[in-house]
Amino acid sequence: MHQTKVAIIGLGTVGAGVARLLLDYGDRTARHAGRTLWLEKAVVRDLQRSRDCELPPGVLTDSIQEVIDDREIQVVAQLIGGLEPARSIMLQLLESGKDVVTANKALLAEHGPEIFDRARALGRCVAFEASVAGGIPIIANIGQCLSANQLLSLHGILNGTSNFILSKMHAEGSAYQEVVTEAQRLGYAEADPAMDVDGTDAAQKLAILAHLGFGARVHWQDIPRSGIDTLDLADVRYAQEMGYRIKLLAVAELVEEKIALHVSPTLVREGRSLAEVGGPYNAIRVVGDAVGQLLFYGPGAGQMPTASAVVADMIDTAVGRSAITFRTLELWSNREARVAAADYASVRGRFYFRLTVDDCPGVLAKVSQALGEQNISIASVLQHEPDAAGSAVPLVIMTHETTAGAADRASATLHKLASVQAEPVRMWVRD
Ligand code: NAP
Ligand code: HSE
Repeated sequence: MHQTKVAIIGLGTVGAGVARLLLDYGDRTARHAGRTLWLEKAVVRDLQRSRDCELPPGVLTDSIQEVIDDREIQVVAQLIGGLEPARSIMLQLLESGKDVVTANKALLAEHGPEIFDRARALGRCVAFEASVAGGIPIIANIGQCLSANQLLSLHGILNGTSNFILSKMHAEGSAYQEVVTEAQRLGYAEADPAMDVDGTDAAQKLAILAHLGFGARVHWQDIPRSGIDTLDLADVRYAQEMGYRIKLLAVAELVEEKIALHVSPTLVREGRSLAEVGGPYNAIRVVGDAVGQLLFYGPGAGQMPTASAVVADMIDTAVGRSAITFRTLELWSNREARVAAADYASVRGRFYFRLTVDDCPGVLAKVSQALGEQNISIASVLQHEPDAAGSAVPLVIMTHETTAGAADRASATLHKLASVQAEPVRMWVRD
């Protein structure tokens, strides 16, 4: 049988999973590729470290140059995280005539234009299914299968680590920090888990999806975002009491023919499909004008789900499918954006506010006045009896539909009230 020599750079959580699929299930990949994907080299930094896979003698190396110099290696899975040296290695691999598969969304969201332009100029391709939503084939679906549609909206749980943490907080009332450590141990989190929980990782993935699905040219840093790193267990409990679950939602929606993008902790009503997504799972609800509503659901992080996406890309690259897709999609090309960015302040929705207020007369009137000044109508108010006389009390308010701008202005006014003791918590609500 014909064989294509391949290499892996980075043999951590994902790389070791890819090696296992190539070595232990070679017959399966050969059947789909019509050729053997022969693992020639696997590059690491530290040769002494124990690996989560067994490699044949001579495969493990700490020299990327060995891969670059080997003209027979055609496809390389680049599975190092972060920006550098990942960027330089990516460019070197392309320059040396290799096609590259990657799971590194941070790299694509930051240096996509440079990498994709270089690949195009060199007649090479880059495949990146594993960069968004782990094992869910969302890149292929948005980039190819839905190409007859104008996408109208996309709501995604795109960070497995955050969802894992939120699920534990909801189900077990676990403290935030102890769950972060568990997510790291299970291989879901980034090398720097701050990127998972502060909304960065989800914004980087959203930038890739918005580019692919809507033709938006938005840098991930320009996407308004907040994460779950400042979330209080009290908000999780209030959400539960009112019949909601908090999810870190990445949102792209067309608003008057412009695209509104944001990443925000959001109260999603129980029973809605996105509210029921637990653990490190991801889900993406997409609405297209022809197809209607679709839901993609599956493991969004972890070794074998991510390796599944990487190896599928390696097969597609080896047989030439990725090259055709890459050429036709013209990703990050100089083509103008098909859609302009909407003003975030004009995006409409309902909001949750939690205020810590003095337990004294007239406070509720001042709070409702601040909201009323922004034309915000209150849908419900929740306040429990105080623990002790004279102490501060939490006041939870759900609004009717308004705009993000009005909600932010109201929040700023509320913060200035003498009877409001801390910065108000404000989150989106999806019913
Ligand atoms: P990881 O466990 O930290 O593994 C990274 C690997 O890269 C390690 O084996 C490390 O070698 C190697 N490496 C780093 N710098 C290197 C260098 N200069 N030369 C050679 N090797 C180098 O990371 P991971 O979780 O597998 O993630 C890899 C990529 O996949 C990241 O971009 C991540 O965002 C993405 N991703 C991860 C997941 C997931 O669930 N983990 C899911 C989707 C996408 P040593 O072991 O010798 O240090
Ligand atoms: N750290 C990422 C997450 C890995 O938790 O979703 C998958 O991209």
